[in-house]
Amino acid sequence: MSTQGEEQMASATNLAQNPGDRKQPVLALQEVTKTYSLGRQSTVEAVRGVSLSVAQGEFVMITGRSGSGKTTLLNLMAGLTRPTSGRVLFNGEDLWGLSDRQRSTYRNQRVGFIFQFPSLIGSLTAVENVLLPTMFAPRDRRLDGRPARQRAEELLGIVGLSDRVAARPRQLSAGQQKRAVIARALMNEPSLLLADEPTADLDERTEREIVAFLCEVQQRRNLTIVMVTHAGELLRLATRALEMSEGTLSEKIRS
Ligand SMILES: Nc1ncnc2c1ncn2[C@@H]1O[C@H](COP(=O)(O)OP(=O)(O)OP(=O)(O)O)[C@@H](O)[C@H]1O
Ligand SMILES: [Mg+2]
Repeated sequence: MSTQGEEQMASATNLAQNPGDRKQPVLALQEVTKTYSLGRQSTVEAVRGVSLSVAQGEFVMITGRSGSGKTTLLNLMAGLTRPTSGRVLFNGEDLWGLSDRQRSTYRNQRVGFIFQFPSLIGSLTAVENVLLPTMFAPRDRRLDGRPARQRAEELLGIVGLSDRVAARPRQLSAGQQKRAVIARALMNEPSLLLADEPTADLDERTEREIVAFLCEVQQRRNLTIVMVTHAGELLRLATRALEMSEGTLSEKIRS
């Protein structure tokens, strides 16, 4: 990792003009703001005028203090939260110019989302949870029956849960649940993976293994990843490191 002295901060407004961004970006945020209302008079400006271009195959890591707007930013990228102003573009298309149905397809088929708090369905086994995203796929893309189950089991194996395929979430540790969620996010072979502290509850070794696995998928399949992390030592694995501070985004330029 570069030393602090080598790191320079660039203003968020420059992020869209990176030299590597000549191709159409997979994901682009244009002056995006998100203001939440808290009761009658009070508002929170969670995201303040963020512009960002992410090219295909990039592994972007975002750090920042608690409450700085990281989760809000990922939700905006996922089309889960509507910006108060500005635009979020996926392959050049404004997410909020799409119909509800098209936006659902984007969320279900193009994006894999790993939420900050693991969200497995308690009544389903680990492998059934991993299979869930395939239920919403159109028929021609649905990985029906055996091949889908094989793939789900394979993914569980990759995250180290091959002996927990039939376990229910309550029978899994917090870290194991997190790993099952990672497997689920990759089930539909997304082109964009949005991961909100995916390794937060894991020990360092498991964390390294999971991130190494994500790097491998990113390189092998040219998957684009935007990941929020508190683990500064992981930043050297990113193709770009960004920092969120009070709703604005800056780039750490590493020489
Ligand atoms: N639904 C909401 N309604 C009102 N305010 C919200 C809502 N969600 C988030 N906020 C506020 O927006 C700000 C940014 O929250 P966000 O969850 O994006 O932060 P974060 O960087 O992900 O923090 P952490 O590292 O603790 O997860 C915070 O001040 C938070 O209180
Ligand atoms: Mg958060």
